[in-house]
Amino acid sequence: MKAIRGATTVAKDCPEDIRESVKELLDCIFSENNLRLDEVVCIMFSSTADITSFYPAKAAREAGYARFPLYSSSEPAIEGALARCIRVMILVERSKAVKHIYLREAKMLRKDLSRTLNIAIDGPAGSGKSTVSKIIAERLGILYLDTGAMYRAIALKCVRENADYADKDVVRNLIENIDIKVDYCNGAQVTLLDGEDVSSQIRTPQVSLLASYVSAYSFVRTKMVDLQREIAAKFSCVLDGRDIGTNVLPDCEFKFFLTADSAVRAKRRHEENISKGITQSFDDVLKDIEERDFHDRNRAVAPLKQAKDAQVIDTSEMTIDQVVSAILTKVEEKI
Ligand code: DC
Repeated sequence: MKAIRGATTVAKDCPEDIRESVKELLDCIFSENNLRLDEVVCIMFSSTADITSFYPAKAAREAGYARFPLYSSSEPAIEGALARCIRVMILVERSKAVKHIYLREAKMLRKDLSRTLNIAIDGPAGSGKSTVSKIIAERLGILYLDTGAMYRAIALKCVRENADYADKDVVRNLIENIDIKVDYCNGAQVTLLDGEDVSSQIRTPQVSLLASYVSAYSFVRTKMVDLQREIAAKFSCVLDGRDIGTNVLPDCEFKFFLTADSAVRAKRRHEENISKGITQSFDDVLKDIEERDFHDRNRAVAPLKQAKDAQVIDTSEMTIDQVVSAILTKVEEKI
C-alpha cells in the first residue's frame, strides 16, 4: 500500500470554487500517477478552517471519484496557515513509486515536489554513482535514471547480432530501428531492448566494455540523449552517467561528480561481480576499468569530465552513507 499526498487552494469559499479545485487536484493526481479507480483504497481530505461552504469529499464524489470511501475533516484555525487550503491523502494498492501533487498556492508547501527536480551524478565506473543515486532517488521519492543502462542495451544488441562494433556503419544500421525504453517496477529501473527486459543481461563484463565503445559514436549519443532529456523534462529524477552535467542537462541545478582511486573502484566492482555470480579476477576488473576510463575520458563526443559547476566528491575513503548525506545536504539546502 502507498499513500499519495496532495494539496491545493480554493479561490473563494464557495461550492463552485471548491468543486473546481478538488476536481483539478484529483484529475492531476490520477493522471500523473496513471492511477486506476480500482487501485484506490480510500481518499481523505482535510481543509483549513476558512473553508466552510462545501465538503471536499462531496466535490470528489460529484466529480466521479466515488467507488471508495471518501472522508473530509476540518483543521483547526491555526495562525499563519495557508488560506483556503485543501489537503488530500489517497491510499492506493500498489507498490511502485507514487507522485505527490501540490497545485495553486499550495505549491509553496512542498517546493521540492512542485517542480521537476533533476540531480546529475556523473563519474567513472565504480565511483559509487549508481548505488548512491538509487538511495537518493528513494529518499526524495523521485525516479532514478541509469543512463549507462541505455548504452549497455545497445552494446547487448551488438553482441546478440554478432555485429562488428568497431564498424561505425554496422552500428548505425543496427540502431536505426532499435527500441530502447526504460520502465519502472517497484521503483527500480527496468531496461527494455526491443520490448524485452534485459536489465540483468546488460551487466556482464563483455557488455560493460562494449558499452564504452559504442557510446563514443555521436549518432548513438544523439539518440540516447534525446530520450534522457525527454524523461528528465517529465519526471523528477536522479540521472547518473558520464555527461549528464556537461551535455545532457547543462542547466541542471544540482550537479555532482564522483571520483575514486581506480584500485578502490576495481575492488568495489570485483565484489559486486562476485555477489552477482560473475567470475573475473581482480586484475582483469582493474584492467577493464582502466580501459573504460581511457575510452570514456578520451572520446571526441561528450567525454567523461566534470562540469565546471559540479561539486566533486572523492568517494575513495567515504562510506555510501557519507556520500549520500553530502549530496542530500546540498540538495535540501536549496529545495
Ligand atoms: O555507468 P555504466 O558503467 O553502466 O556505463 C556503461 C558505459 O556507457 C560507460 O563505459 C560509458 C557509457 N556511458 C556514457 O557514455 N554516457 C552516459 N551518460 C552513461 C554511460
